[in-house]
Amino acid sequence: MSAFSPTRFAPLALMAGLLAAQTAFAAETELERGKRLFIQGAVPACALCHTLRDAGSEGSVGPVLDEIKPDAERVRKALRNGLGAMPSFAKSLSEADIQALARYVSQASGGAPAR
Ligand code: HEC
Repeated sequence: MSAFSPTRFAPLALMAGLLAAQTAFAAETELERGKRLFIQGAVPACALCHTLRDAGSEGSVGPVLDEIKPDAERVRKALRNGLGAMPSFAKSLSEADIQALARYVSQASGGAPAR
């Protein structure tokens, strides 16, 4: 096999591809991540139980978030501890997920400006 065999470059090309894919994933903003988790990423999804206009959800088990306009801290607390019929997400979501949801929900509902 010569030093310039094309097959030698295949792993390099693969790595470049993976790197590009990773960069594309990282390009998702925190607010986009929060919205994605709200609609379908969290289990069970927030959208099943909550109405939030920005997310296009019409769940009616929990309060309408556009109306209660929770600030980020209130969202974080509900996610970590659960509240009434709402389960805690402390075990199923990472800190970063909880943070993204808190930012997204508080901003999309009008409860808090983006920080
Ligand atoms: C199984 C249904 C259900 C799911 C899923 C759910 N919630 Fe809730 N949520 C509720 C209910 C019910 C309440 C009201 C609890 C109470 O006041 O007793 C609530 C309350 C809240 C509140 C208000 C907390 C407060 O201090 O009054 C926020 C904010 C909230 N939910 C956000 C979320 C987010 C974000 C998600 C997704 C990660 C989510 N919820 C998932 C049912 C749900």
